[in-house]
Amino acid sequence: MNDLKTLVRNHLKPSRYKHTLGVCKLAVHLAKLYDVDEKDAEIASLLHDYCKYESDEAILETFRRTNKPIDDVIMNHPNLGHGYMSAVIAKEQFGVSDDIFHAIMNHTFGRPHMSMLEKIIYLSDALEEERSYEGIEMLRELALKDINKALLMACQNTLIFELKRGNMIHVQTILMHNALVEER
Ligand SMILES: [Fe+2]
Ligand SMILES: [Fe+2]
Repeated sequence: MNDLKTLVRNHLKPSRYKHTLGVCKLAVHLAKLYDVDEKDAEIASLLHDYCKYESDEAILETFRRTNKPIDDVIMNHPNLGHGYMSAVIAKEQFGVSDDIFHAIMNHTFGRPHMSMLEKIIYLSDALEEERSYEGIEMLRELALKDINKALLMACQNTLIFELKRGNMIHVQTILMHNALVEER
């Protein structure tokens, strides 16, 4: 694991590595609480933003060569596909499991009916200690008690944030929102 940490540190800017360690810390904590393999949480966290600084072209090329459809959001903002590229590299270079692959892939947009590991990585990315925005403390506490409720609130925050700025909304985020409301 220390080898992986060194590799990731050398691959990212210091600020992004700090964020990655923050995600890792929270994800391992949540993994303990929700009975998920801590090592899986650590590996997924360490690699989730691995391709954050790849060029738009490199990200789009990863979609093309793996026959992954390029949707409207990715076409307009290729960097938002860094999760997918990171997941592909994690699989190809580090041989991660399918669950870790999905957790890395879905950390940006989410998806309906995520596994517990996927939920943990999605929320840890949003709530790690380096981030600060209104209401984050309450969400952090909620994540420890009711992960689905925290997920729904984090998802609502994202939707409101993007809508207010006139940004596009990824269909997976809307589907996740609806599934969480339905399950409630
Ligand atoms: Fe990311
Ligand atoms: Fe991240």
